[in-house]
Amino acid sequence: MAADSISFARGAPSLDIVDIEGLKAAAVAAFDSDPAGITAYGTSVGYPPLRQWLADRHGVSTENVLVTNGSMQAGAFLFDWVVTPGTPVVVERPTYDRTLDGLRRRAAEITTIDLDADGIVVDALEEKLKAGLRPKLIHVIPNFHNPAGCTLPLDRREKLVALAREYGFWLFEDDPYRDVRFEGEPLPTMLEIDLAQGGGSVIHAGSFTKTVCPGVRVGWLVGPTEVISGVAGLATGTYIAPSMVSEGIVDQFIKSGAFERSVATVSAALGERAALLGELLRSELPGCEFSPPKGGYFLWLRLPGADGAALAAAAAERGVQIVAGTDFMDGGEEWIRLAYSAAGLEEIREGVSRLADAARSLGFIEG
Ligand SMILES: Cc1ncc(COP(=O)(O)O)c(C=O)c1O
Repeated sequence: MAADSISFARGAPSLDIVDIEGLKAAAVAAFDSDPAGITAYGTSVGYPPLRQWLADRHGVSTENVLVTNGSMQAGAFLFDWVVTPGTPVVVERPTYDRTLDGLRRRAAEITTIDLDADGIVVDALEEKLKAGLRPKLIHVIPNFHNPAGCTLPLDRREKLVALAREYGFWLFEDDPYRDVRFEGEPLPTMLEIDLAQGGGSVIHAGSFTKTVCPGVRVGWLVGPTEVISGVAGLATGTYIAPSMVSEGIVDQFIKSGAFERSVATVSAALGERAALLGELLRSELPGCEFSPPKGGYFLWLRLPGADGAALAAAAAERGVQIVAGTDFMDGGEEWIRLAYSAAGLEEIREGVSRLADAARSLGFIEG
């Protein structure tokens, strides 16, 4: 592997866009303002002031909020609560690889529904429901999808909520990328749409990983009281409580105004990186197909006739990490996922040039 490794693999922000000074100041403020609260065990539902902020943000009461060590932990608790071997679950195709792993490990009976350029094809789901499919849970990534980059339009969100209410499944809205937006206005969450009709069908997960940094490991779950109290019981049995120190720091980070600034910094930097990446791919990988990202961390790229796993191996030999599409779906051979979050502009230039060299060496592009 080349010495100077470039990662298009990790969905994590590069260090230059993490607000280290803001986090240090927030840590001092957290220890100064609430030493007893953040050094105690606390309870499984999370640090009370942060829980309150999240409840206000989502327009729910604190009983509907559980703060966890990252949103993947939130999802894992939810799967533990809902899924036993053979439980029917629907996921998108493609979807987040760790979601697939988590459901496979729990031996869920997985049905996939394809995405198109706008996200999950809700009409295809409805057909399956009409034909008798009765999932207990449907997992959807509504904004700036991982890996596909797409965002679900309002009519599909409304339809999904209506189907969840009609057919009685939990709609799991896994939404860590919502705030990382390069253009346009946010759409209502499916949680909001459900709450406007009385609630009870949507469970929403969010995270500070993509807007503050992954290392704080703070995420959350918002949902019906029965779900939150059930899942909180599993959390107590797993770790007593999540990290109060981390949650206290995030709470002070928000109170200082640093959170809003961090969202702006990350979104601006990733918007610039995504634009450059798209431009370079078009010129250096002729024939490749992708939709330019409007937010989030990932560009989902198809190279017709290519083998993504072979390309990943050839890129790795040149010091560039990418993820093969097969990690995210069966039939993903021609696809790769490129994260533009961890590499700066210069690295993106160099990384695409090496990726093109790898593709050429395999005969996937001409030249
Ligand atoms: C769709 C999705 N859900 C959940 C997660 C996990 O995030 P966290 O770091 O909050 O555990 C990720 C991280 O990449 C993700 O893409």
